[in-house]
Amino acid sequence: MSKFTMDDMVGYCNQYGFIFQGSEIYGGLANTWDYGPLGTRLKNNIKDAWRYFFIQNRDNSFELDSDILMNPTVWKASGHLASFSDPLLDCKECKSRYRADNLIGEFNSEVDADAMTTDEMMSYIRNNNVCCPKCGASNFTDIRQFNLMFATQRGVTSDSANTIYLRPENAQGEYVNYMNVLRTMRTKLPFSIGQIGKAFRNEITPGNFTFRTVEFEQMEFQTFCKAGDDDNLYEYFKEYGIKFFQLVGLDKSRLRFHDHEKLAHYAKQACDIEYLFPFGWGEINGTHNRTDFDLKNHCEYSGKKLDYFDAATNERYIPYIIESTYGLDRLFLAILFESLEKEELKDGETRDVLKILPALAPIKLNVLPISKKYHAEKAMEIYNMTRKYFMTSYDDTGSIGKRYRRGDAIGTPFAISVDDQTVENNIVTLRDRDTMQQITLKVDELVEYISERIKLEIK
Ligand code: GAP
Repeated sequence: MSKFTMDDMVGYCNQYGFIFQGSEIYGGLANTWDYGPLGTRLKNNIKDAWRYFFIQNRDNSFELDSDILMNPTVWKASGHLASFSDPLLDCKECKSRYRADNLIGEFNSEVDADAMTTDEMMSYIRNNNVCCPKCGASNFTDIRQFNLMFATQRGVTSDSANTIYLRPENAQGEYVNYMNVLRTMRTKLPFSIGQIGKAFRNEITPGNFTFRTVEFEQMEFQTFCKAGDDDNLYEYFKEYGIKFFQLVGLDKSRLRFHDHEKLAHYAKQACDIEYLFPFGWGEINGTHNRTDFDLKNHCEYSGKKLDYFDAATNERYIPYIIESTYGLDRLFLAILFESLEKEELKDGETRDVLKILPALAPIKLNVLPISKKYHAEKAMEIYNMTRKYFMTSYDDTGSIGKRYRRGDAIGTPFAISVDDQTVENNIVTLRDRDTMQQITLKVDELVEYISERIKLEIK
């Protein structure tokens, strides 16, 4: 694992085109980030790995792509309008705004403010004379609940009748389409609907680079089941999450479960998987037993029948839902921390190398002509041939050592040098990113050799 700090990682991502500051030329917009060319490829490769593990390799598992904007009654039914909020308070002296649970956590890291009610947090702050971290005063307003949903207006008039919301979670898109999927896929319980998509939250204390932002991407997976099967499925999906993280290269020693004491308004049981980031343990996944809470409410608010007919038992019932949700941006960050290394070499030099799983690497092969003058044509021919099969780059500037280092730093697992032997006998030298060892290969063996090694495989 890397010894890179969060600041190092921000610099690395900017230098190599993984992530840029959002709206940079205008001085940015706090806590927004744009994925650059390599970041976009890495993100897409993580999504493909998720699809492979959650959709392609599972029975009765279907992907959906629902709209971000939904009928606002969805958010009444889901409970988000009433309950999806952060407890905020202001310092009356310097006007700084805080989340009450964070304020308590910073004051005493032994106290789990997540498990406290609003009244308990307020009493704790008053009884312990918790001070404002900025000005030192102990003079706060009462705690108010601040809804995290982004509201926007539809149409030309801006009255409350036209208020709609940017979705704060993907899940509701899957729930309101559950009957459509059931009907069109001719499936039966238990079955799952997964979705990758953006979510938006008006987080008052964003931070830690892309770990907590206002706009982010989720990979959510909802399994619809019969009540009574929910407890086993809940345990199963907790473990399935660990398996997925191992599949994409995270080491088990840096993963742990964190059971929730204080539950979200929809959950009967909830457990996060946390990853050990440089700033400490941070949630990258959540498994929730949402019971029949969401579908029951959608029945009530929509007036539609959402019960399932179980042909085996002749019963009708509202299914339970086990949710397994992944933060794509957080997983992206965890994978970079897991893979980025500063390595001492024999000659006293060092190299930055991103030892990322080849299946996730933004570029799979780097084609390097030894001499621009004599080998460029042959190298270009190989580049044009291999890029039909996987992402390939072509680099003819600087010494061969520098070109290898550039590929290492962005995690390109293979590089080939093209020289006289290639021009005369169609033989290339292929270098491995991690071992730096070289082998020779015939040009017509190249595609098969690399394709075999960049496959994602469930062990
Ligand atoms: N549908 C349930 C749900 O949204 P959540 O635990 O609130 O559950 C799911 O969010 C995942 O989304 C989290 O595990 C985390 O990885 C990611 N996530 C949540 N808030 C985020 C934020 N502000 N910035 C980046 N990722 C976030």
